[in-house]
Amino acid sequence: MGQEITTSQLRKWLLAYAARIIENEAHLTKLDTAIGDADHGVNMRRGMSKLKERLKEEKQSEDVSSFLRSVAMTLISGIGGAAGPLYGTFFLRAATSPTNGSSIDLVQLTQMFRYGLDGLQQRGKAQADDKTMIDTMQPAVEAMEAALAAHQSPAVILAAARQAAHLGMKHTIEIEARKGRASYLGPHSIGHQDPGATSAYFLFETAAEVFTKTGAG
Ligand SMILES: Nc1ncnc2c1ncn2[C@@H]1O[C@H](COP(=O)(O)OP(=O)(O)O)[C@@H](O)[C@H]1O
Ligand SMILES: [Mg+2]
Repeated sequence: MGQEITTSQLRKWLLAYAARIIENEAHLTKLDTAIGDADHGVNMRRGMSKLKERLKEEKQSEDVSSFLRSVAMTLISGIGGAAGPLYGTFFLRAATSPTNGSSIDLVQLTQMFRYGLDGLQQRGKAQADDKTMIDTMQPAVEAMEAALAAHQSPAVILAAARQAAHLGMKHTIEIEARKGRASYLGPHSIGHQDPGATSAYFLFETAAEVFTKTGAG
């Protein structure tokens, strides 16, 4: 895996993520109105505004770990709700994954997502099919790991992650919520797409766009 993703490219990814979430605020709110308390769009937009502020100026030669840690702190305080600590934990744990200092290769990017997912799962105790953001992230990370093991190119690995994330997000429509606020609705949660699974999908969508475009693909 020759291609390196630098801290600067991770910054571009998260700026693209912030922009995508802000564009989709009303959509996320609508999803959380159906099966939650209608604040996921607002929570995420508030977090993304803080994140954009944090990322406004590029810090020269910042290492990947401290970058991800500072993203985590910004999200924990900025998003709020259930999702704030969960996204925060994702990035805090991602920050402990192996790096080459101020860059990571595709193996390490995959590990970064894996560490983040495992941390989030330990924190929120949700399993696959509980109708949460795990339903997007787990298949996406597994698809990356499988594509990597099959020696696929970075572009294919990133496309596989996006596609699996998309399928996982859509799968949340079919299932009953067993975690978070939507679980209070029991079977009435069926037929609605999970808001957190939707905001999590944009992480993989923008990663595929940005890392493929910037030469890592
Ligand atoms: N235990 C959990 N593990 C993983 N994700 C969860 C968990 N609980 C809730 N979520 C996610 O959080 C999303 C709701 O976020 P948000 O509306 O911002 O917070 P709140 O539920 O406090 O209103 C859900 O759609 C779901 O994806
Ligand atoms: Mg909510």
